[in-house]
Amino acid sequence: MSPFRLTRILPEDATAAALRADVREGLTADPKTLPPKWFYDAHGSELFERITELPEYYPTRAEREILADRSGEIAAALPARTLVELGSGSSEKTRYLLDSLTGLRSYLPVDVSESALRQAGQALAAERPGTEVHALVADFTAGLALPDTPGPRLLAFLGGTIGNLLPAERAAFLTAVRALLSPGDALLLGTDLVKDEDVLVRAYDDAAGVTAAFNKNVLAVVNRELGADFDPDSFEHVALWNADEEWIEMRLRSRAAQTVKVPALDLAVHFEAGEEVRTEVSAKFREDRVASELASAGLELARWWTDRENRFALSLSVVR
Ligand code: AVJ
Repeated sequence: MSPFRLTRILPEDATAAALRADVREGLTADPKTLPPKWFYDAHGSELFERITELPEYYPTRAEREILADRSGEIAAALPARTLVELGSGSSEKTRYLLDSLTGLRSYLPVDVSESALRQAGQALAAERPGTEVHALVADFTAGLALPDTPGPRLLAFLGGTIGNLLPAERAAFLTAVRALLSPGDALLLGTDLVKDEDVLVRAYDDAAGVTAAFNKNVLAVVNRELGADFDPDSFEHVALWNADEEWIEMRLRSRAAQTVKVPALDLAVHFEAGEEVRTEVSAKFREDRVASELASAGLELARWWTDRENRFALSLSVVR
């Protein structure tokens, strides 16, 4: 049994302040937006776990296939002593990497969801003698400092979550990641790939309605945290493919004209009938765009692996 530690880098009140700022900014903007990071309270994290098991939602299975087949190659390319995982969630797919990284001393899962970190981190620490697990409750889009752990470090950002950042946020994020790394360290990045529109849209609008519930959960979060009176049933889940940007957008469409109160912000938000709030973009990539975005941040794409159906890619960029 190795030690499990959890450090909250982001104080509880900073999270609350960030939510207030995001909701005020997003709901007073035109068009209205809410950032996807607020989906992931305990219930939202559970709904996301259910999404990953849906027949229509292929990215998790495709990425797992790559990890199952290629973790040995990844570990050989970067025999890390520290594995940092941003947006670790349940850490389910990470097990392949943990099994292959035989010299690993330290695993640092980083997530905004403390509940997910505790569940996953405690189990992993119990199973893996020799690897300390130090979970970090942090918002990796808001600047991140890491504890001093042995190198080389492999920083994994899996699941295609980089696609949830807007292009400017992505550039800032990759630059910040590069700054965390030293020569000999590497970034392992999961990116979902451009493919048939119907396949993409179905992955974000499943028949069982789990993604719809996940999307509407952000309204429940705003209700609970900011005292708002959103009626989630008065909004419709929308998923569409934006061919110009090459991203999926999730939106919530107001079924009627309505005004929602957000007491903690002293704000009343009016929605026209049919008006939409964009709640997520999920960008889909091609190899050349991944390579050029990495290069812009000073990272050089060294390896590129896809699943057998070319749906999803893992790339490795080693810092020189
Ligand atoms: C796995 C977090 C990147 O964009 O596919 C799943 C989350 N949103 N269904 C994605 C998500 C809607 C997601 N990430």
